[in-house]
Amino acid sequence: MNTEVTLSGITLSNPIIPASGTFGYGKEFSDLYDLNILGAISFKGTTREERFGNPLPRIAECPMGLINSVGLQNPGVEAVINKELPELAKHYHKPLIANISGFSIEEYTYCAERLDKQDQVSLLEVNVSCPNVHNGGMAYGVSPDSVYDVTKAVKAVTTKPIYIKLSPNVTDISEIAKACEAGGADGLSLINTLLGMRIDTKRRSCVIANKMGGFSGPAVFPVALRMVYQVAQSTHLPIIGIGGVSSTNDVIEMMMAGASAVQIGSANLINPYICKEIIEELPQKMAELDITKLSDIIGVAL
Ligand code: FUM
Repeated sequence: MNTEVTLSGITLSNPIIPASGTFGYGKEFSDLYDLNILGAISFKGTTREERFGNPLPRIAECPMGLINSVGLQNPGVEAVINKELPELAKHYHKPLIANISGFSIEEYTYCAERLDKQDQVSLLEVNVSCPNVHNGGMAYGVSPDSVYDVTKAVKAVTTKPIYIKLSPNVTDISEIAKACEAGGADGLSLINTLLGMRIDTKRRSCVIANKMGGFSGPAVFPVALRMVYQVAQSTHLPIIGIGGVSSTNDVIEMMMAGASAVQIGSANLINPYICKEIIEELPQKMAELDITKLSDIIGVAL
């Protein structure tokens, strides 16, 4: 069975990538299993400065998912380069995706330039879709003009492929995807979380301190799949499918809808072994479905 896939010339031994924000900078999971079985890792959204994130509570449980309002908590790009990457290098030597976020175009380009110089980083994932911060993150990802500007600016300062991580909180995700393509993106990651909220009926107020947050988990899978399917038809860019993926069958569906690789997010929070289990189950699932080369199924349902 051949489970290899490629993203802009980077070969992944399989399409399974833990999603940004659900896997830290990797080292915590290295106690659980050999990280080198993964296709790639996308690390926690990183900004220029250290961020403590949003006030608590930041999590609301929901049927078939959860809402988070972490607020891009991260140690800042210099600490990532000086501490997190050397630590990860002790455990992991496969493709690494650097997820970057910002509050201005200059911040995106600063982080991109710094991480572009790191040999460990294979690809940059430009997060223009975090719903949990004001005047940054998603603010750049919901209009074709601003997403074009960020894409063009980041592309100009990097030598590595850039994948723009798209928000589902838009009227027409295909228009946003096309703007990324026009701006020079090498690929797309989609979807980030859907804006949601819960109310504590006893307290008569929002569960989450920041009121709203990003909804993820198995409940969003059909929405994510639909958006991957639409974007695959409206651009020529490779896609990393994200959103509620929690089984081997979900991975196959994402790929048939047009994804070249797949990120697993919230499922890591429920079962930290989920990526390992899916990787181990893939050959059996491929045999069941008469697939000998996994990359052959990319977009077959289009
Ligand atoms: O709040 C957060 O850190 C989430 C980031 C994201 O969804 O991109």
